[in-house]
Amino acid sequence: MTGIAGTTIVEPDPQSLARRAAQWLVERSAATQGSFRLALSGGSTPRLLYRLLATSMPTARLELFWGDERFVPPDDPDSNYRMAKEEWLSHADIPHGQIHPIPTDTDPRDCAHRYEATLKSVYGADVLDPARPLFDVVLLGLGDDGHTASLLPGQPVLGERTRWTAPVMKGRDEPRITLTYPALESSRAVVFLVTGADKRDAVARARAGDESLPAGRLHPQGETIWFLDEAAGA
Ligand code: 6PG
Repeated sequence: MTGIAGTTIVEPDPQSLARRAAQWLVERSAATQGSFRLALSGGSTPRLLYRLLATSMPTARLELFWGDERFVPPDDPDSNYRMAKEEWLSHADIPHGQIHPIPTDTDPRDCAHRYEATLKSVYGADVLDPARPLFDVVLLGLGDDGHTASLLPGQPVLGERTRWTAPVMKGRDEPRITLTYPALESSRAVVFLVTGADKRDAVARARAGDESLPAGRLHPQGETIWFLDEAAGA
């Protein structure tokens, strides 16, 4: 199995890991010419990171996107956008036009189509060119079942290799909208941020390219970096 082993950066605990990841992102942004297109992950792990980025990430060239969203209102406690806003966006001066949340105001299919249109407009083309990645960095989490973004086990979205976004109608309490493999792979760097012993097995299997896990089927075009605390994978 060819894996997405990439580079591993291990820190003792979630707090030091968040500091290390924030430092890496700020340095990567500084080294990037023009817009710095960053796709954010959801869930709970990135909270500490986003709180640090609120006071450290330059905003002038920053363009924010999301790798997935729960199909709930933007002020819902489950919203990935709301979490990022609580920890980062409401504490930083990022121009509104540089923040691209996934819409959740009509129905999952329509919102997925609209987000795909947004991505294509930003990219300036309807077909992804491997020589010109869509994102500079895609930040991803990992579930203990090996899902990432909302690429959930057993769902049809795992077979989607044409569309850039997709609705995910089953597998969780609420529908999701997710970027698909082609869009997530179209990045100069894919960065996994994973903490906790419960993720250890999924980390090892995903890194080994175990294709029974959604994350194990991801084949980033650019570099892959795993930011792990010791519990998740020294
Ligand atoms: C989501 C995320 C999802 C998340 C993992 C890990 O919308 O939930 O995109 O892929 O990154 O489920 O979640 P935790 O960080 O909460 O463990």
